Amino acid sequence: MELLIKNARIIDVTQDFVGDIYINNGLIEEIAKEIHKENIKTLNCNGKTLMPAFIDTHAHFRDPGLTWKEDIETGSRAALKGGYTGVCLMANTNPICSSKETLEYVRNKSNELNLIDIHQCLSVTKNFDGITLSHLEELGYDKKIKAISDDGVGVNNSNTMLEAMEIAKRNNWVIMSHAESPEFSKIDMRIAENMMTLRDVELAKLSKARLHMCHVSTKESIKYIIDGKMSGANITLEVTPHHIGLTRDINDYRVNPPIREKEDVEAIIEAIKLGMVDTIGTDHAPHTDEEKRKGSPGMVGLETAFSICFTKLVKENDISLNKLSELMSYNPAKILDMNKGKISVGIDGDFVLVDVDKKIKVNCEEFASKGRNTPFEGMEFYGEILATIKGGEIKFSKDE
Ligand code: DOR
Ligand code: ZN
Repeated sequence: MELLIKNARIIDVTQDFVGDIYINNGLIEEIAKEIHKENIKTLNCNGKTLMPAFIDTHAHFRDPGLTWKEDIETGSRAALKGGYTGVCLMANTNPICSSKETLEYVRNKSNELNLIDIHQCLSVTKNFDGITLSHLEELGYDKKIKAISDDGVGVNNSNTMLEAMEIAKRNNWVIMSHAESPEFSKIDMRIAENMMTLRDVELAKLSKARLHMCHVSTKESIKYIIDGKMSGANITLEVTPHHIGLTRDINDYRVNPPIREKEDVEAIIEAIKLGMVDTIGTDHAPHTDEEKRKGSPGMVGLETAFSICFTKLVKENDISLNKLSELMSYNPAKILDMNKGKISVGIDGDFVLVDVDKKIKVNCEEFASKGRNTPFEGMEFYGEILATIKGGEIKFSKDE
């Protein structure tokens, strides 16, 4: 498949120029100010912004077992609509993803759909029992596994977490931590996150494992992680659009970790400016209206992530679009070992075309996701996703 992209403002982690891109057999083959080719499919961008497609380090597609909330197809379509061609799925499905069978179910379904690239996490503890690690040893041969996580609950037992880190290190997996101490969840959700973050940073120093801290939301946790990074620990820090875009006094939408205070949002933005934040993960967590009424935590995020982050970070806080591309594409690709995330020859031909000047109003009725659970309904942001391209194929176009 060939595609010629013309007249785009090309932006990635390091570049910003107007030019053309030629994609052949799924990969970027040529990048130049001007490329001429006869008789091939051409996309004229009319000067609009073209970035590497986004990669989400953290999403829940609820498949298998909870597909009334979302399934791999609707989740993938939501991803494409939000500019994503790669996602890392958490393991809190039904059954929990602790086996070869569940891993292969997700991979096969995703391959058949041929919409986006999915990395399915294996659970850290077997069936989230908090203690058993035998499945990790058994699945060590599976080179498609890049990351393991008990996201949704987290690993409470410190010794188990340390052992899991040691196994992860041996297999070159990244271990993704949902930092929430269950002993404190009911008492103080700030302490619950902070205590577990501090523990995981210490265990990462000890084990030398690659640790990815999910949805970091408190100023204290950010400080602990920065300290850990400074002392040489191999830690990456993920923040979410909702912990950037909301404060508790204005909208205390139910999500774990909770929406925090203004000082916490400021700490996240400061850490981004200091180069200490690695990725933006959406924590896309679809639930039905009824489940939300009954208190299920979480919100959908794939279809609103870019516009929220672009508005809050680039427009309002003077963070460069290159930096946003690093957080949404370049670093996630590195962590998940995907041949994506930057615009250079030999990399997957995955792009998102955006109109950065266009204001959009969030309307959950238009979501491709089954989930309508968003606290951003009716809010206006800059940055509209016009098209998403994967391997040189236009997989989503706003006009279709
Ligand atoms: O709010 C949340 N919802 N936080 C999580 O960690 C899990 C997620 C879910 O799966 O619904
Ligand atoms: Zn989580």
